[in-house]
Amino acid sequence: MTTYNIGVIAGDGIGPEVINEGLKVLGEVKNGFDVNLVEYPYSGAHYLKTKELVPDRVIDEWRALDAVYLGAIGHPKVEPGLVERSVIMGLRMGLDLYVNLRPVKLFAEHLCPLKGKTPKDVDFVVIRENTEDAYVGLGGFFKKGSPDEIAVAEMVFTRKGTERIIRYAFDIARARNKNGKPKLTMVDKANAIRPQDLWTRVFAEVGKEYPDVEQNHLYVDACCMAMVRNPEAFDVIVTANLFGDIITDLGAMLQGGMGFAASGNIHPGKTSMFEPIHGSAPDIAGQGIANPLGAVLSLSMMLDYLGEKKTAARIENAVASLMISDRPPSLNGKNGMTTTQIGDAVSRQIALGDSSPMISPRGKTNATHIAQLKSAIAAQESLRATLGDQAIEAVIAALNEKIFALRVQQQPV
Ligand SMILES: NC(=O)c1ccc[n+]([C@@H]2O[C@H](COP(=O)([O-])OP(=O)(O)OC[C@H]3O[C@@H](n4cnc5c(N)ncnc54)[C@H](O)[C@@H]3O)[C@@H](O)[C@H]2O)c1
Repeated sequence: MTTYNIGVIAGDGIGPEVINEGLKVLGEVKNGFDVNLVEYPYSGAHYLKTKELVPDRVIDEWRALDAVYLGAIGHPKVEPGLVERSVIMGLRMGLDLYVNLRPVKLFAEHLCPLKGKTPKDVDFVVIRENTEDAYVGLGGFFKKGSPDEIAVAEMVFTRKGTERIIRYAFDIARARNKNGKPKLTMVDKANAIRPQDLWTRVFAEVGKEYPDVEQNHLYVDACCMAMVRNPEAFDVIVTANLFGDIITDLGAMLQGGMGFAASGNIHPGKTSMFEPIHGSAPDIAGQGIANPLGAVLSLSMMLDYLGEKKTAARIENAVASLMISDRPPSLNGKNGMTTTQIGDAVSRQIALGDSSPMISPRGKTNATHIAQLKSAIAAQESLRATLGDQAIEAVIAALNEKIFALRVQQQPV
């Protein structure tokens, strides 16, 4: 049996609260493989106690793991960015995790703040370059604190860095094959930031190798507008580090809030890191009201990356089923379900299995409907068991759509 060595950095604030729920779900879903969890203490709280940041030898240690599962870093009593840079940048830069993969997927209509938008409308992926741009740390202050103070921050874009992320995004668009018409939108601000013309040129050059993928370009301001006005127009977005950071918070809100958004920090084929996109949320830390679903969905992304695709799909299906069930968890802060209760609900949903009545359409269960759902799930599982994963992704996606449509259909008894 395969055993995966997983580094766990729970971090600060709500980080440990949501990671606990993720690990609870992992315990529930683990089947056919084992995990060896290696816990690391690095966080703002740890820094306050010990003054320790991440040493180089630990970054070497991380490279030897199969994956890293991270909660959130950031403590209100520590200088902003100090520990975040050490841990998050230590991982992203140290392990060269150049892809930041952020699915924006709405599970249930009632979660979306946009009027009339359904899960069919909000289903795209943002691919954020993760190692360059304003995050390389080039810059600083001159005459700090004086009336003549100057602050400089450099944006860095390399041809290699731009090319590899754009190529990755084209490959993802091809693999998703959304509605049989893959589409990639490149987002920059090359009209105002002229060095971003590098992105424009590289996108056009690499795009010649992908004539089957529709290619589109938006400036980042127009992209924000379009994400709100017609999110259904998006399939895959590729963008630089800073813009990706910003537009994915907007994407999280389209999904139902910061607590829903998951991410993978990936170097294809190498140790990668998975984390919810939110921070340590000091305003709600310790109250047990954080939404752990972003952490749970990040766990699903990690298992998918490790090759445990069936297990990953079971987690995502359980979350989707919960959100469209008769009694979706209320995520209304203090008046909603607690972090632990939501984790328990996901675990229960997994234990019940995909074809339980809990995931039936809203209203009462319908025998024909459940039978259709069961047969679609069985078809999907048998394809997974008999064919190679790559070859069947498109078929799986089509069946997933069918399963999803069956779940959301409202049928009388
Ligand atoms: N990857 C990371 O670890 C990461 C990412 C962003 C921010 N940070 C750090 O986190 C700290 C706080 O940053 P911030 O306040 O800008 O961002 P944040 O994401 O922590 O919080 C923003 C808002 O979203 C809410 N929120 C976030 N996650 C939630 C969840 N799971 N359930 C319910 N509500 C949730 C918070 O209560 C807050 O109102 C800072 O120190 C920052 O540097 C870390």
